[in-house]
Amino acid sequence: MTFRIAQISDTHLSNEKPFFVDSFRRVGQALRADRPELVLHSGDISLDGSSKERDLAAARVLHDGLGLPVRFLPGNHDLGDSQDGPTHGENSIDATRRARYVAHFGADWWTFDVPGWRVLGINAQLLASDLAAAGEQTTAIAAAVAGIDGRRLALFLHRPMFDRDIAETAVTGRFVNPESRRILLAALGVVAPALVACGHVHQFRESWFEGVHHVWAPSTAYVIPDRRQPRYGIKDVGYAEHRLEPDGRHESRFVRVPGLPRLDIADFPEAYGPL
Ligand SMILES: [Fe+2]
Ligand SMILES: [Fe+2]
Repeated sequence: MTFRIAQISDTHLSNEKPFFVDSFRRVGQALRADRPELVLHSGDISLDGSSKERDLAAARVLHDGLGLPVRFLPGNHDLGDSQDGPTHGENSIDATRRARYVAHFGADWWTFDVPGWRVLGINAQLLASDLAAAGEQTTAIAAAVAGIDGRRLALFLHRPMFDRDIAETAVTGRFVNPESRRILLAALGVVAPALVACGHVHQFRESWFEGVHHVWAPSTAYVIPDRRQPRYGIKDVGYAEHRLEPDGRHESRFVRVPGLPRLDIADFPEAYGPL
């Protein structure tokens, strides 16, 4: 049986600043009609959960209201950004913020198997941090690939592993930074994922590097204007669907949701301040 994952991302939800709640509800309607085997959230669930626990709580209530099986991964806005990147005045991940996230959304890394596949979700912000949990996650990644037993690997995380080349050295707020990437690649060892899927950039993009399919899911909420962020792929809102086949093949696509407004963050200075 095909295992269908609807990957949603970057919902940026809050009760106090509910700018993107209506969009989330529209996507929820589409998901309920679509009935995937799993809804997988690749992070930035909340608008500002790294500072405000009530944003985490509000986002959780909205997801519970979907009435669908959901798994979550944390984004920088949920528990703080990577410690090995530029902060832009944002919070960095620490033990308190991580514990708060876990209390609302459950484990920040996990693995499960479906016919032909092992699906591994990780906390990208944790990789090169000074938290004790960083080492535990790295050990868990290594254990997940050691026991893969011929299945294909699908890796989910909040931010893209890189732009065009796995050996990139730039330290950015956009991609997994070199030190975090080194740790992740060492833990994966000889096992190359068939699929690496992320969010964070609020664009849909498909690319292939050394046989690995990299898919960026769009945000359900908003795009970021060109003056602030280059175009890497499709700047639109929606979600991504991944079809994992028992024989190891897979297919990913961008799903547009009828009636979903293509909001632009530049029109919501109350969310994160003026651009
Ligand atoms: Fe985001
Ligand atoms: Fe993000």
